[in-house]
Amino acid sequence: MKTLIGTNVSILTSDIISRNMEKIKIENLSLVFGKNRSKAIDLLKKGQGKSEILEKTGCTVAVRDANLTINEGEIFVIMGLSGSGKSTLLRCLNRLINPTIGKIFINKDDITNMSDKELLEIRRKELAMVFQHFGLLPHRTVLSNVAFGLELQGISKEERETRAMETIELVDLKGYENQKVSELSGGMQQRVGLARGLANNPEVLLMDEAFSALDPLIRSQMQDELLLLQEKMQKTIVFITHDLDEAIKLGDRIAIMKDGEIVQVGTSEEIITNPANDYVTSFVENVDRSKVVTAGSIMFTKPTIARLKKDGPAVVVRKMREKGLSSLPVVRTNRTFLGFINIEDAVNLKKKEIKSIEEAIKPEAMTVTAEATVEDILPLLSKTTRSIPVVNEENHLLGTVSQTSVIAEMTGKDKDEISDIIQKAYDL
Ligand SMILES: Nc1ncnc2c1ncn2[C@@H]1O[C@H](COP(=O)(O)OP(=O)(O)O)[C@@H](O)[C@H]1O
Ligand SMILES: [Mg+2]
Repeated sequence: MKTLIGTNVSILTSDIISRNMEKIKIENLSLVFGKNRSKAIDLLKKGQGKSEILEKTGCTVAVRDANLTINEGEIFVIMGLSGSGKSTLLRCLNRLINPTIGKIFINKDDITNMSDKELLEIRRKELAMVFQHFGLLPHRTVLSNVAFGLELQGISKEERETRAMETIELVDLKGYENQKVSELSGGMQQRVGLARGLANNPEVLLMDEAFSALDPLIRSQMQDELLLLQEKMQKTIVFITHDLDEAIKLGDRIAIMKDGEIVQVGTSEEIITNPANDYVTSFVENVDRSKVVTAGSIMFTKPTIARLKKDGPAVVVRKMREKGLSSLPVVRTNRTFLGFINIEDAVNLKKKEIKSIEEAIKPEAMTVTAEATVEDILPLLSKTTRSIPVVNEENHLLGTVSQTSVIAEMTGKDKDEISDIIQKAYDL
C-alpha cells in the first residue's frame, strides 16, 4: 500500500491483500482477568462498562467482544493507548493466555479448542512473537540467540546454525553473528529479536510494541526495514503500537482499541477520513492528512478524455470548449494513457483538415498511481496547471487529480467554493 510515483511499479503487499485470504479470525473474543470471573461475564453480557465491572467484581475486562479478520500477507496494526487491551488480544493469538469467551481461528482451525500437542505444533510452524524488550539472552552470541527457538525444538546444531545465518543475513546483521548481544546497540538488538522470530520461518509474526523502546531515528529505520523485509517475506504480521504515526506507516489496515473494545477497523485513510467516533477523531486530529489521503480517493474518475481512435481534432476541440478546458488526456481504446492534447494544437489540426490527433499528443511523464499521497502529488501540481493523471500499473488512466480537489482535501472546503476562489483570483 505504500506510495509510489510513476507507472511501472507494482506493489507486492497490495497484490496479496487483494487476494484477501483469511489467515486469522477472531470471533466474539472477551478476556477477563480476576477471580470473580463468572459474575464479571454476566455483567459484561448485560453491557456494563469496564469500570463498573471492575468496581462490582474486582475483575478487569481486558478485551471485550473483539471481532477481527486478518488477511494473509498483510501488516495488521492494533493501536490504542496503554491499557486498552492490545497485548492481551495478541497473547490470545498464540494462546499465551486463553480467551474467557470467544474463538480464534488460524487457517480456519479453531485454536481455542486445540490440544496442547496441536497447539505446540501451530506455535512452532505458524507463529513467532517479537517483543518490545527484545527478550534476548544478553551473554549469548547473536547466532546463538537467533538459533535459540530452533534449539528448543531439538533441531541439530548444524541445521539450526545454517537457518539462523540465513535470517541473520535477512535482517542485515551478517558479520555480527559472533558478537554478544549485550555488546550491540538497541536497534541491532531489536534486529536480533526480529531474526529470532523469523528463524523458524513462521507464517505469522506477532510484534508487540517491537519498536517502542527505540530512539526515534532508529525506530524509523526499523520501520523502513520491516516494510522492505515484508516485501520479500510476505508474512502475515500483527503489529501492536500505541503510536498512530507508526500505525499509519506500517499498517495495511489498523484496528483501534479503547478500554478493551475494537472501536474501528480500516485502512489508515479510511480511519482518518472517516473516524468512527469522537475517540478516534481525537486520535487522528493531529495527523497530517496529506501523508495519508491518496490520489485514488480524491481523483475524478470520469474526466473528459480524448480517445485516439474515435475522437478527431474537431470533436476534441468541441469537448474542450464545452468544458472550458485547455487540454485533455489522450487514451487508447483500452484506456492506456498516451499524453495530453492542447486546444491550440487541436485547432491547428482541424484547420489543416488532419483527421487524427495522434501527431499532436504531448507525452506526459508526470503520472501518479492511486496509492500516491497528497504529499507526493503537491510538488507535481506546482509544476503544471493541468490535472495529474492517475494510472495503474498497466498505465491505464484511472482518473485525474486536479489542483482544486487537492486544495479541497487540504482545507476541508468544498470544490465549488474553491473553484470560485480560484476563478476570482484569475479574474483579478
Ligand atoms: N495479568 C494481568 N492480570 C490482571 N490484569 C491485567 C493483566 N494483564 C493486563 N491486565 C489489565 O488488562 C488491561 C489490558 O492490558 P494490556 O492488554 O496489557 O493493554 P495494552 O497492551 O494495550 O497496554 C489493563 O487494564 C491491564 O491492567
Ligand atoms: Mg501492551
